[in-house]
Amino acid sequence: MKLLVIGSGGREHALAWRLARSPRVHKVYVAPGNGGTEAGDLLENVPLTNAEELADFVQKSGVSLTVVGPEAPLAAGVVDVFRARGLKIFGPTRAAAQLESSKDYAKAFMTRHGIPTAAYATFTDPAQAHAYIDQQGAPIVIKADGLAAGKGVVVAMTADEAHAAIDAMLGDGSLGEAGARVVIEEFLTGEEASFIVMCDGRHVLALATSQDHKRLQDGDAGPNTGGMGAYSPAPIVTPELHHRIMREIILPTVQGMARDGIPYTGFLYAGLMIAPGDSADRPIKTLEFNCRMGDPETQPIMMRIKSDLLDALEHAVEGTLDQADIVWDRRTALGVVLAAHNYPGTPRTGDAITGLPADADDRMVFHAATTRKDGQVQTSGGRVLCVTALGDSIRIARDRAYETVSAIHFDGRQYRGDIGWRALKPSQQKPRS
Ligand code: AMP
Ligand code: GLY
Repeated sequence: MKLLVIGSGGREHALAWRLARSPRVHKVYVAPGNGGTEAGDLLENVPLTNAEELADFVQKSGVSLTVVGPEAPLAAGVVDVFRARGLKIFGPTRAAAQLESSKDYAKAFMTRHGIPTAAYATFTDPAQAHAYIDQQGAPIVIKADGLAAGKGVVVAMTADEAHAAIDAMLGDGSLGEAGARVVIEEFLTGEEASFIVMCDGRHVLALATSQDHKRLQDGDAGPNTGGMGAYSPAPIVTPELHHRIMREIILPTVQGMARDGIPYTGFLYAGLMIAPGDSADRPIKTLEFNCRMGDPETQPIMMRIKSDLLDALEHAVEGTLDQADIVWDRRTALGVVLAAHNYPGTPRTGDAITGLPADADDRMVFHAATTRKDGQVQTSGGRVLCVTALGDSIRIARDRAYETVSAIHFDGRQYRGDIGWRALKPSQQKPRS
């Protein structure tokens, strides 16, 4: 069977790598792919991004099933285009992808369906937004309504920062259309976790839990990024919390979308804030929805799948996800992102990468922004690689990942040295999966 993965990041390399392990798969096309998917076993890049052209390619080359990685093609309606031609694709429709592509839509949806989230108000008028900030005080969180490639959220610790964010988004139009409407939100404290599930419109299959590291530098310092490293499982999500997240957030979301006439199909990612403390009923609130898997969370999650992911995907597109299961490796997987010089600003590209190891089942270097040129692998964007390893404990996984990191070189590389620190704290309880 031939499959297509749409996207070009580390998430897509990991998805394609895992799918290529299925005994029933003999080719995984990746569009447009990167330097890692170009050279992977059974993988092949296709230089296409337009939805109609991708659908033509699928029809011409006999691809049975397509999986979409990033949010942009989903928000642009790639699923609608494929379905209109009767092609099998796993992802949300353009309407359902609004859970990510419009913060205001997501907040109104959560409020309407009683899904716990931070209190908020939405503004297009700068004067009203400024007045609201004066009334609420800081800390406070300002979010651009639309997709802003990770740059749309300002966690303002002072009222001045909050006012400046309003001026930039509503006044100067620094984020364009995406920032022409803003959501202003109550500041929440606690620990974040990523909870990702597969949905078929009615049923839900939870993936293993994970935790990302959004800030650039050690100790969660520096600017926000797309994610500098992740591990799975996330020990903070105990079996009790897992159960509550499904009951209080995930199932009401899927049922709410169905009730609103926009059944949700695809990966659904809930970014959660779990309030501090140990009490079983401490609040769990939804910070955001993404209509896709996380990057880099996908990389450790894919390394832990022991069963055939294609089986679960087929059930998901057929609407029989209640009959699917995924068998998880009990070990921990941990991924460290190597980023280019000047990331998350404008990254330098074209640096030669050396020291890449051969693929192994328990240690993979997933490529994100790489190309192959003149016999070299070169950097081609911000987050370049995600070095991911499995280990019997998070400590072992971490040590194995960093051992590989130290062998890989490119000029200007940046990475965090403390991926996994939260889970390495001695007080954590036993995770579920
Ligand atoms: P989002 O894209 O909405 O998940 O926001 C990006 C990051 O901003 C989150 O991962 C959090 O670290 C932070 N954040 C978002 N909303 C809040 C909030 N209400 N309170 C505190 N931090 C937040
Ligand atoms: N790693 C966070 C995200 O994919 O949104």
